[in-house]
Amino acid sequence: MKIFKQILFWSVLGFALIQFIPTDKMNKPVDHKLNFVDAKHTPGKIKGLIKGACYDCHSNETVYPKYAYIAPVSWSVKSHVNEGREHLNFSVWETYNKDLKENMLSKTIQTIQGKTMPMPGYIVYHKQANLSDAERTLLVKYFEEMLKSKTY
Ligand code: HEC
Repeated sequence: MKIFKQILFWSVLGFALIQFIPTDKMNKPVDHKLNFVDAKHTPGKIKGLIKGACYDCHSNETVYPKYAYIAPVSWSVKSHVNEGREHLNFSVWETYNKDLKENMLSKTIQTIQGKTMPMPGYIVYHKQANLSDAERTLLVKYFEEMLKSKTY
């Protein structure tokens, strides 16, 4: 019993202390000339889908949920955001060269079709990211059209 109490004590203390380790949740300002949905004049409905389902991890407009303020969950959220932005950041779309844009568009199509994006764990807490098949088709069509017409 004594050992159990000690473990509990140190766990609670550890949990309390890690709350003081800061995670950087400041978003960089968005330059609308570089931002995908602005630069491409994405139609309203599609824009809503992309912003609602992808922008939390793939832009500088991340909206952090309440649970993202509690360590160690906050570290996991922040690492997904960092990693997501590293791969694809819609906020700086216009800084990408032609090859990178093409590559990202085809990967975007693949991930939406294959349902690997938005990340399955994220969908559980973000209903707007739980895209229906019709919404996925709409997005895929939009990105395919852009790829074909080279209007990226
Ligand atoms: C909860 C965070 C999160 C959300 C929401 C999210 N992604 Fe991602 N995405 C990631 C992470 C993390 C990676 C990098 C690791 C990986 O590939 O799984 C990634 C990688 C990608 C890649 C690059 C794959 C590669 O091989 O370079 C594409 C394309 C992508 N996501 C598209 C999307 C699209 C489109 C949406 C919205 C429909 C979306 N993601 C929503 C976190 C997210």
